[in-house]
Amino acid sequence: MIDRQIVDKIFDAARIEDVVGDFVSLRKRGANLIGLCPFHNEKTGSFNVNPARNIFKCFGCGEGGNSVHFIMKHEQLSYPDALRYLAKKYHIEIQERKLTEEEKNLQSERESLLLANEFAVEIYAQCLNNRPDGKAVGKAYFYERGFTDETIKRFNLGYAPDEYEFLINEAQKRGIPVETLEKVGLALKSDKGGYYERFRGRVMFPIHSISGKIVAFGGRILGNKTDKLAKYVNSPESEIYHKSNELYGIYFAKNEIVKQDKCFLVEGYTDVISMAQAGVKNVVASSGTSLTQGQIKLIHRFTPNITVIYDGDAAGIKASIRGIDLLLAEGMKVKTVLLPNGEDPDSFARSHNASDFIEFVNNNQTDFIHFKISILQQDAKNDPLKKAEMVKEVIRTIAIVPDMLLRAEYIKECSTLLDVNEQAIYNEINKIKLQEKQDELKRLEIEKNREQNQLKSIDNQQNIAQIEENYEDFAKKIFVKNKKIENLERELLTFVIRNGNSAILQDENGEIFVAQYIKATLEAQNLKFTNPLFTQIFEEFIAESAKQNFDVENYFKYHNNQYISKFAAEIITEKYTLSKMFQEEEITLTNPDEIVIPEVDYEDEQSVRAYNKAVKEFEQKKNQHNRELKLIVQRKSEKIVKLFNDIQRVLIEYINENTLNEKKIKLEQLKKTYLSNNQDEIRKIQTELTEINTRINTLSKPLGNRAIIKILK
Ligand code: CTP
Ligand code: MN
Repeated sequence: MIDRQIVDKIFDAARIEDVVGDFVSLRKRGANLIGLCPFHNEKTGSFNVNPARNIFKCFGCGEGGNSVHFIMKHEQLSYPDALRYLAKKYHIEIQERKLTEEEKNLQSERESLLLANEFAVEIYAQCLNNRPDGKAVGKAYFYERGFTDETIKRFNLGYAPDEYEFLINEAQKRGIPVETLEKVGLALKSDKGGYYERFRGRVMFPIHSISGKIVAFGGRILGNKTDKLAKYVNSPESEIYHKSNELYGIYFAKNEIVKQDKCFLVEGYTDVISMAQAGVKNVVASSGTSLTQGQIKLIHRFTPNITVIYDGDAAGIKASIRGIDLLLAEGMKVKTVLLPNGEDPDSFARSHNASDFIEFVNNNQTDFIHFKISILQQDAKNDPLKKAEMVKEVIRTIAIVPDMLLRAEYIKECSTLLDVNEQAIYNEINKIKLQEKQDELKRLEIEKNREQNQLKSIDNQQNIAQIEENYEDFAKKIFVKNKKIENLERELLTFVIRNGNSAILQDENGEIFVAQYIKATLEAQNLKFTNPLFTQIFEEFIAESAKQNFDVENYFKYHNNQYISKFAAEIITEKYTLSKMFQEEEITLTNPDEIVIPEVDYEDEQSVRAYNKAVKEFEQKKNQHNRELKLIVQRKSEKIVKLFNDIQRVLIEYINENTLNEKKIKLEQLKKTYLSNNQDEIRKIQTELTEINTRINTLSKPLGNRAIIKILK
């Protein structure tokens, strides 16, 4: 955890134009800077940097935020890592918050495991470069495969000597206990009670996590020995290695994946390395096993476009078909390429340069429909039964695609390719979807109780920290429950952040401010924000705004919670564009005091004339000044009236929506009670419903002071 003070220091130092300027060339336009957006493809610059507000915004793709958000997105870093990145850039020393004993142990355990792996990488590289056997067999092997020294270094390749206790002894010298080596799978317990090494006489491929930490290894035997030894030995699962959430090459590929908005998926370590060496750097490998959802999510963070490259053997193809379904279900846009017979990405990349490779891919990639049909057709040949099965299978896959438009495209294509009526495909898909829905409903019923308990615990402040961590998962589960209500909450908060401190009503007891008004109205209606982050913003606003010199904009724009700061930056940019659109002429007040009234000598006619002229001018200016003052007050009150009306409109809609919700729930209750035939209960619910209906009828009327009265009590 980084100290709040340090975070403030980082935000102070990291001027947006400076941070962005490292990656985007910016031109001046008015008070702003403009450039080509690094987050989407464009020819004219719609990427705006606003130095005064210290935020950026792309009017093309909508990306926006403060300097830390920029680095997170551009360098694909987590929030704390982006802060660390900027701290380094501006030479700010970071003191991380003191961790609890438990956190410390957990962290130091993880760190010691990572350290052990890092140490092993170092030793294996030394062996490859300096030991006679390493040079003679290890390095020679890599050279033979066409890897350059640069590539070997980039991917931290190494050589594990053919000994049982080499690394163990080296580690001991460095004070790394053998138990630690065992925990990461580098060492194994022997039957006799000692330890021996897992990787012996193998070339080593370290596996980097997305942030570049070494979490595991793959070790390959030398040459094509065909005795009982497995071609690859891999690290086992450990505290730091969960195979299903790691992808070989992702650390080296992530920037290029974002840039190309596309990712290549291959099978093996050597495929990744050879392709990268040939210049195709946006490539990762599933390491021989079928893809997992976690791995797909890792890619999806950077791009939805994936091209899967297969070596043409039958076993590989069968396994990959399953992988495709999973990719489609995660909303990825999938293309496939079959390499010429006998080639794999590794061999193909070695005999082609990047542009030839890309050209081949562009000419030979097909979408999954073509791919699947061509594979299945080989099986079906002219057997009509098998053909019907094939059609079913293809349709089943299409049904997985979550995006409706994309699905429609595939249906059209499938209809042409297989000569099946489009409507028939739709019918079939509807049948599948219906079945899925029914299964889903059953599942939901079971989950319902669990979820309700979850909802209850949201109020709990402690949970908010956790929610931040899992915000996305969480958002899916809960916020989407009523999108409309959440949007209205967002609108209300926009008023709070933009105008929270403006007086909106005048009462005999004094002024009432926007935030106060909204708070009172919600309380009067017994309503709470459903989105816990919104609740947090609102509550913090109320607490902070009581303090002197509270700067709403800065407080939220640099908030420690990345979602809050991003939310605020968005709102502020919206305000900025709005005010530009409706920009009114500034009224500069005429100053009558500018007129110097000269001394008057009544004997001197000229002096009298000058005096009279000045007095007249003063009067004129004074009148003008008064007129302008009136105009300003008028405009200001017009603005306040408009703001007030806007807030009322949103509040009414919000209350309405909540009340309708309430009514819906009561109606359901009533239905259930009818079944039980409990007359008392039925009457009770009916009364409640009448009450709700009366409320609904009065709601369209302005709220006015109804809410206010409550806070002034
Ligand atoms: N693999 C594995 N264990 C094996 C065989 C394969 O873990 N016994 C994984 C490795 O991650 C390997 C990938 O599956 O990279 C693909 O296997 P394969 O095509 O056999 O290996 P290549 O990487 O192509 O290696 P090479 O070119 O050296 O044969
Ligand atoms: Mn291979």
